[in-house]
Formats: sequence, C-alpha cells, structure tokens
Amino acid sequence: MAASKGIATINGVFKGKDIISLNQFSQKDLMLLFSYVPEMKKIATSQTPSKLLEGTITTLLFYEPSSRTFGSFNASVKRLGGQTVDIINPQQFSSVVKGETLEDTVRVFEAYSNAIVIRHPEKGAAAIAASYCKEIPVINAGDGIGEHPTQALLDLYTLYDTFGRLDNLTGLLAGDALNSRTIHSLAAGLSLFKKTTVYILSPDILKFPKDLLVSLRKKGLKIIEITDETDIPKTCNFWYWTRVQKERFSSVKEYEKVKSQFVVTPLLMKKYANKDMILMDPLPRVKTIDTRLDRDPRSVYLRSQIRNGMYIRMALLGLVLGRL
Ligand code: NCD
Repeated sequence: MAASKGIATINGVFKGKDIISLNQFSQKDLMLLFSYVPEMKKIATSQTPSKLLEGTITTLLFYEPSSRTFGSFNASVKRLGGQTVDIINPQQFSSVVKGETLEDTVRVFEAYSNAIVIRHPEKGAAAIAASYCKEIPVINAGDGIGEHPTQALLDLYTLYDTFGRLDNLTGLLAGDALNSRTIHSLAAGLSLFKKTTVYILSPDILKFPKDLLVSLRKKGLKIIEITDETDIPKTCNFWYWTRVQKERFSSVKEYEKVKSQFVVTPLLMKKYANKDMILMDPLPRVKTIDTRLDRDPRSVYLRSQIRNGMYIRMALLGLVLGRL
C-alpha cells in the first residue's frame, strides 16, 4: 500500500481503507455498510459460530478510557471468529511510558495484526497513526475532540432502522457541541442527506465549532443553534444528548458551571418531544438523561443504539478486512 494512502474516500470499496472521518463516506457507502447489518445481527443473536474473521488479529489500541467502543469492537471481532490484541492505556502500561512515539507503537502493532483500532486524546492522532501504518487499515475509535466515525455510523444506522430514511429528518443535538466528537461525526453524516435540519442546543461556551458549522452548512445541512430548551421544536424526529466533557476542560470551575445545564427529564419530554421521536445518547450518561426515562419506549440509548454498535462494527471490520 502506498505511503500516501491517507484518508481516502470509500467510494464503494472498504477493503484496506482507513476509517478516520465521516467525510470519507457517501450515501451509497453508508447503505452498502447497512446492508450487511441483518446478517451480522443474525450471527450475533443466534450465537452461530462465524469464521468470517478467522485467522485475523485486530489490535485495540486505546489511549483514552472506553467501555462501549472498546467492548463492542472486542465483541465484534470475537463474534466473527477473529482475535484481538488489547492494549489499554499504553501510556501507563506499555513502552509509551518509556517514551515510545505513536509512530513506533503503530508500526509495531502493524507487524502483529491485520487492523488497528485506535482511540487517542488528540484530535488528528488517528489520521497520523494511519499515515505511519502502511500495510493495514486503521480505524478511528475517537480522536480527542475530533471525530468518532464508528459511533456516527451506528447512530445513523439506528435512525435509518427506525425511520426508514436519513433524508427529511429533523434532529436535536444537545450538550457539549464544542467537544463532542460524536456530535461532530453525526452532523457530518447527516449532511449527506437532503432536507435534514439539526437544532444544536448547547451552553454558550460549548457551541458547535465554527469551521464545522460553515463547512456543513455549505454541504446543505440546515443548522439552527439554540441556547434555550424552550426553543426545541416539537417536530424533532430524534434527540441526541451528550454529556459535558469534563476531561476537555482546563478549569474544573468552568465545568461545574455548565455540567448540568441541560438534562432530559420526563417533563422536558412531555413539553417538547413528540410521540414518534427517539431519544439517543452515545453514553456514558453523566447528567444527560433522567433514569426515569429508561422505561420510555422512545429511549433507545440502552437498547437498539448499543446493539447496533456491535452489528455495525462487525460489518465494518468484515468489509475493511476484505472478508465481506
Ligand atoms: C463517547 C466518546 O467517547 O466520544 N462515548 C462513546 O464512545 N460511546 C461519548 C462520550 O465520551 O461522552
């Protein structure tokens, strides 16, 4: 593979590609990925042993804490008969402690495995890792405040599976619009579809990044920024709530001021949500959604949103490893 494999568009071919940003995808690429989900779901739910990834090893290189992303990638590989090398917290437990660079670390695990899934606190780190890793695909599992493409893929699939379409949807993206990489990737994904409107509700100091706002509006995504819950329209098909990202703040005091500015309660849903909408959250739930809403049939965050994460990652791994 050429040194410049960089961030290539998918353009119908996943095999060998790095998955770094939602900007690599077209509508068609999303639909191609989604088309494998029923098969993946069947493998997982029927507990039929699968040999799809037999003989492959995927390195899970996680420099930042993770439950769902690490767990679902791990389970996805194993559901498909592959194996993982799990490197959690390399900055504490690996040669990174001794000062090893990202470049060297990636090149070492490239020698051991067939794909690398990386989570890193710095924006752009996954793209850098991919540029060093010449032979095998690198999947971004979250790069600081940058992107989290596989989360957006599962979020988009959850919307598609619920509404049967991704165009002509109105959504609310709420919480930490500045730092939430899941919001950034989801908005990029939604910008691929026509007649999509997103309301972005955030504290004043956590507004959606200006450069993203400009580029996504140029692509045709209608973005309306709001700072008050009373401005949420009842027409939203989905609410996507995110926590205020404590770890991105330099001052605890600043975090304390905004950490619970917006929390979904049964009353808020009663006032501003319609009966057919869905309530989403990439989790972890930290002052985002009142637990009384867990029983509400519109809440998908601990239900389909989680399960779809594994099916989507199974399909994605099958595709980038050239087994589907
Ligand atoms: C998110 C993340 O890590 O960006 N979690 C996840 O992967 N499901 C959201 C968050 O940490 O708030």
